[in-house]
Amino acid sequence: MNPADIASWISDAQKAFSAANDLETLKVARLAHTGDKAPISLASRALGSLAPDEKASVGKLIGDAKAEIAKALAVATEKLEAERDAKVLLEEVVDITLPVSRRHRGGLHPITIIKNEISDFFIEQGYAVEEGPELESGWLNFDALNIPADHPARTMQDTFFIEPIESGVVLRTQTSPVQIRSMLTQEPPIYMICPGRTFRADELDATHSPVFHQVEGLVIDKGITMAHLKGTLDNFARHMFGPDVVTRLRPSFFPFTEPSAEVDIFFNGRWIEWGGCGMVNPRVLTTCGIDTDIYTGFAFGMGLERTLMVRHGITDMHDIVEGDLRFTRQFGVGL
Ligand code: PHE
Repeated sequence: MNPADIASWISDAQKAFSAANDLETLKVARLAHTGDKAPISLASRALGSLAPDEKASVGKLIGDAKAEIAKALAVATEKLEAERDAKVLLEEVVDITLPVSRRHRGGLHPITIIKNEISDFFIEQGYAVEEGPELESGWLNFDALNIPADHPARTMQDTFFIEPIESGVVLRTQTSPVQIRSMLTQEPPIYMICPGRTFRADELDATHSPVFHQVEGLVIDKGITMAHLKGTLDNFARHMFGPDVVTRLRPSFFPFTEPSAEVDIFFNGRWIEWGGCGMVNPRVLTTCGIDTDIYTGFAFGMGLERTLMVRHGITDMHDIVEGDLRFTRQFGVGL
């Protein structure tokens, strides 16, 4: 345990530490030169057996040597850690200027977006959103709605009949049979809307499609008047077309409402027909087992395609039915 030995332990350790070119190798060198079995550690433990005067001088030498070795280790550690960090930064660098493949997220069709928008508006006011089948019995689609057998809407031109004809099943021509289903199965008060797909034997052109969508609203309660209908339509129109829109009711006829009206909106400087409405015909209420001495109700219905076209200035129905992403993307993903 002479000073020359101690000096060689220091220089061995220094050499080993500076020779290490990564943190793993440094760890091995550290264990070899500072671990339990390293010469300096063994010497340190042997100090106890020395004579007191020798213990002091050798002890100081060993203490200084340990400090030297620790310093060399710290220097090597710092250097190798810095190298590792620099390497990680380089390896994990992201080139944000590289072109990426532009994959668009899927999205909802504008008709679905507007349907959800309308549903949310009425749900907030306590309405239920009901659905019914697209294949509907003729009785629910027509008779229960006071549309007699000789009504033009029932002819081959307007209605898709399902074979066998005797089944009486049709592709529903309107969402109104869903009103009937609600009135047959629920006790008033009833506040519901039913958005859904409807079918009529029309050619696809700029303003018609054989498959289209309607939303129908129905309220049955005590003391319901046409004023409630007008107020509801005003709010609905403002929600769909903005706060400045004006509505007007124009006398009309539907077999299932009495009195009936067309609801027009004044939008972008002109009057536009939006949908149909009226007070539910007492004959319809009676058919559904609702006491007309106690209850009255209103109903309204409009096309979703038409609402979308008017609101967004769409002039061709083809754009709505063709599903061209260049068209649908303009409405956002709607999620
Ligand atoms: N169902 C009617 C149609 O398709 C619209 C309507 C609904 C009218 C409810 C009045 C009341 O034309």
